[in-house]
Amino acid sequence: MKLLGKATLGKLTLKNSMVMSAMTRSRADLNGVVGDTTVQYYTQRASAGMMFTEAIRISEEATGSPLTPGIYAPEQITAWKKVTQAVHAHGGLIVAQLWHTGRAGHSIDRNGKLPLAPSARPITGAQHFTSQGAKDYETPQEITVAEIQQTIRDYGQAAKNAIEAGFDGVELHAANGYLPSQFLAESANQRTDDYGGSIPNKVRFVLEVMQELIDVVGGDKVGIKLSPFHPYGDMVLDDPTGTYTYLIEELNKLNFAYVELMKRSPYFPSPAHYPADDEIALFGSRIKQTVIANAGYDKASAETELEKDIAKLVSFGTLFLANPDLPKRFELDAELNQPDRATMFGGGAQGYIDYPSLNN
Ligand SMILES: Cc1cc2nc3c(=O)[nH]c(=O)nc-3n(C[C@H](O)[C@H](O)[C@H](O)COP(=O)(O)O)c2cc1C
Repeated sequence: MKLLGKATLGKLTLKNSMVMSAMTRSRADLNGVVGDTTVQYYTQRASAGMMFTEAIRISEEATGSPLTPGIYAPEQITAWKKVTQAVHAHGGLIVAQLWHTGRAGHSIDRNGKLPLAPSARPITGAQHFTSQGAKDYETPQEITVAEIQQTIRDYGQAAKNAIEAGFDGVELHAANGYLPSQFLAESANQRTDDYGGSIPNKVRFVLEVMQELIDVVGGDKVGIKLSPFHPYGDMVLDDPTGTYTYLIEELNKLNFAYVELMKRSPYFPSPAHYPADDEIALFGSRIKQTVIANAGYDKASAETELEKDIAKLVSFGTLFLANPDLPKRFELDAELNQPDRATMFGGGAQGYIDYPSLNN
């Protein structure tokens, strides 16, 4: 079966076509430094063809949620080195997901500073998980052009740090309503300058960040995650198909390794004016880079997806969270552990490094 067969991605050879998608676990310390349990967590999952880390903050300014790791301070980089060395020693590959939360943050966990976002438009209809419990979102501060330029440099520096820390590449988190996707959506971007208004203006930020990452670490080590029809984070686009089609056409002009395409989830219905199309069929077929399909796959549906020959890899989130040896379980058609939602974000070893493998 294709899923268990080898694959190449940029200059990497993956031992199977199963990728672990990025999952925030909120187990870093207050300085954004990961510890020994994080080393263990990723090492346990090193039989994946490749792993994406949880989203990692590119700067202090990028902070949205408590206990999430960073990759801008020397002690953060040193801590990640332990993770990459252990994963490589177990024959695994690991790519750092680079994160700026934009308006999806709260001043409580930002030293009292309001989040920066394309426009002063808060997320509505949801609350934010802060260190003081669930809070309504605040109205963010509109990011200036000088701050946009600084943010792009921060992405570049974080990518450089990630390579120094031993990661096999970097993925721009441009999905799920964080800063890059906020630029694409009218519900977050009402700018009238070069970064808002027309579709080319709205996609400018994403393209500039991608160019920076490619310039800094080389395109074979760079990818991007997109979630075109996923409304999480109050993402509402007037023309989601037109915007993402244009973005993909422009991304096709850049030289980088892959696009991870996340489909919408039944738990977050799209706005009524969104098309019903399958995102992999609609967008994946237009993508020049390697496509990694994501969201909601199990063994059978992942294999069916690969048979369509649009995506070359499938990424799994919750299944890898609960099953450290997922490739082995798929190979043997073994029973799967069920994920515990209560321990997904924050806490200690429980629900993090105690999911059993078959031979434990
Ligand atoms: C606990 C948890 C944390 C997540 N954190 C991130 C994240 O940091 N970055 C990201 O791109 N997606 C994140 N996601 C989304 C997953 O990467 C994935 O896209 C989603 O779970 C759908 O895949 P699945 O159906 O295989 O779980 C998270 C999902 C879960 C369950």
